[in-house]
Amino acid sequence: MNHKSKIGAILSLILFCSVLTKAENNSKATLEKKRIEQRVDSVMRLMTLEEKIGQLNQLSSSEKTGPELSKSNNMDYVRKGLCGSMLNVVGAEMTRKAQEIAVNESRLHIPLLFGYDVIHGFKTIFPVPLAETASWDMNLIEKSARIAAIETSASGVHWTFAPMVDISRDARWGRIMEGAGEDPYLGSLVAAARVRGFQEQLNNNTDILACAKHFVAYGAAIGGRDYNSTDISERTLYETYLPPFKAAVDAGAATIMSAFQDLNGIPASGNEFTLRKILKHDWNFKGFVVSDWGSVGELINHGVAKDRKEAAKMGLNSGVDMEMCSLTYVDELAQLIREGLVKKELISNACRRILRMKFKLGLFDDPYKYCDTEREKNLIFTPQNRQASLEIARKSIVLLKNENHILPLDKNLKSIALIGPLADAKPEMIGQWPGKGEEDKAVTLFAGLKSHLPENTKLVYAKGCQIDDENESLFDEAIQTAKNADLVILALGEGKMMSGENTSRSNLELPGVQLDLAKAIIKTGKPVVVILTNGRPLAISWLNSHAGAIVEGWILGTEAGNALADVLVGNINPSGKLPVSFPVVTGQVPVYYNYKSTGRPYVPNEQWVTKYIDCPNDALFPFGFGLSYTSFTYSDIKLSDSKLQPNGEIIASVDVTNSGSIDGEDVVQFYIHDMVAQTTRPVKELKDFKKIRLSAGETKQVVFTIKPDELRYYDANMNFIAEPGDFKIFIGTNSRDCKEAIFSLEK
Ligand code: NOJ
Repeated sequence: MNHKSKIGAILSLILFCSVLTKAENNSKATLEKKRIEQRVDSVMRLMTLEEKIGQLNQLSSSEKTGPELSKSNNMDYVRKGLCGSMLNVVGAEMTRKAQEIAVNESRLHIPLLFGYDVIHGFKTIFPVPLAETASWDMNLIEKSARIAAIETSASGVHWTFAPMVDISRDARWGRIMEGAGEDPYLGSLVAAARVRGFQEQLNNNTDILACAKHFVAYGAAIGGRDYNSTDISERTLYETYLPPFKAAVDAGAATIMSAFQDLNGIPASGNEFTLRKILKHDWNFKGFVVSDWGSVGELINHGVAKDRKEAAKMGLNSGVDMEMCSLTYVDELAQLIREGLVKKELISNACRRILRMKFKLGLFDDPYKYCDTEREKNLIFTPQNRQASLEIARKSIVLLKNENHILPLDKNLKSIALIGPLADAKPEMIGQWPGKGEEDKAVTLFAGLKSHLPENTKLVYAKGCQIDDENESLFDEAIQTAKNADLVILALGEGKMMSGENTSRSNLELPGVQLDLAKAIIKTGKPVVVILTNGRPLAISWLNSHAGAIVEGWILGTEAGNALADVLVGNINPSGKLPVSFPVVTGQVPVYYNYKSTGRPYVPNEQWVTKYIDCPNDALFPFGFGLSYTSFTYSDIKLSDSKLQPNGEIIASVDVTNSGSIDGEDVVQFYIHDMVAQTTRPVKELKDFKKIRLSAGETKQVVFTIKPDELRYYDANMNFIAEPGDFKIFIGTNSRDCKEAIFSLEK
């Protein structure tokens, strides 16, 4: 055998072995699935109707994350086998105690499932999801979910109510901070990455069940007011709000949470079309659906159920398998069965879905698998976890403005004034949904700067005002501090309870007198760098016109101050890109990059075109925007062909050059516009991106492959098809500044 054929033989052997291992793994997985189904059957055969219904009942510990719904002693339900899951029971010891009651005192010894809101970390707190998304780095996002899973599972908890995959185009909605922003493609990648991170294989004690929420269109709340109705077309539902859920389901999400609000007149927690038809039938979702807190009981408030009995019936019929906290299932379903008003198999089916997850997690083999105080001591808040949080916090920071290279800070500055209510605010670094994160352990900007600035730079701090102060009593001291310094760092933004659940704002300006403080400080004539801490886009036009630099610092978690300081002193070259548009003024909301073509598109200085008379149409900072300490230049787009065959592909490429003097990263973004279709199409849709690192002066070719599949859309009859015709592509450093080219999809 010559050298070439030997290599050929080895390669074939490797290929053969890997095909074999794949086949082996597949058949192992099928066997395991079968075994689980048999074990579920064997338990179900022993269960009474009431016990089956009990599995569909989820109760909370006294640590409530919603309104009080029952005064009864929850552990009595557990003893009687009438509770399948508890939320907010946390800690190896506490979960063990509750589990002991279920396993030792209930008739069938069925273990409980413990759920908890781990939204951006358990004890090591990571940047909020909106911030993490600004990294456009799916590996890091997966890693942060993995670490959160390891910490959560070490604390006895099996299940997180995350990721929140609601798209939102409305920054007034405070929960925008819990999601991945406005774009369905980016949102889908983040959804899948977070599910993978939480669940991995679901077969060891470091995995937790994920829960994609809130199904569906919760982020489209009218007026941005939380819990408010949503009214969107089926097309918008399919194009914009469903894709991240589909991605989560495809990534194996074990559970889905049904939302609070009504969607086109039907409450999401009683919606057969979305839960049964789309999720369970069309997508073949095999996990289980949990309601949101009390959302089945709230069907009465919605006015679609006259009493708790009707609410229970509607919830179950629509496809909600487990009811969180409103107890209508456990109180009403048995009677509904007796009266023949609900089908028995719906209860069995829901119960089966829940038991299946308990088996998958191995809880029937070892109900205390997650309740290990040693693991709890060793795996939580470790230096490595904090380091990972720091890494992702650095990558989440977005540089919005940097006039005259005011940043990174000059090493020869003699004194810096650090001013503002967010400069030394530990709770604000952690934000809402803190998990078990300790505010005290958070690093503030003040602390971060102290440890990062050169010894010769003096740092003087003045608060200036409280976050939502109405008065200016602290201004004078702050102005004096600014006057005595070479440069001012102004830390502004929102308080910890100004984003997250039920934190809608009608005004996206800085709260309280913060803008007045900024005006007073900028009036001193000192160079000013603004650092923002916030969980949503803010309307910061004035700051953009007057501050020297603006750094979007979101809510970055435990290591916030260190990450911000790293960027300020130049240890890190910022590379974050906005996952959501920032408005010029609040009244422009909803403002988003992928709006549809209108009949009267905007043309400057034309009268009869779509526009405001008092502000531009476009965002102040568009989706995908973010600066760097270096600059990147893009060549024109090269297309491998101007015609794409129905089964073919074409390549679009650009040369990106780091034209500045320091190394840096850019996110090269690829958008598409269908120029003529049966329905109006977005002016741009993100289809792909590549995050690249370039040394100073380096050029790299960045390549995107275009296939007909990516050109599909819902036509006039809601068929998902790719139609022959012309398409425009855009490649650029954000959704606004792009190179363009045109190709056509052939018949
Ligand atoms: C209500 C919230 O909407 C949901 O996101 C959360 O998971 C539950 N409460 C449980 O805390």
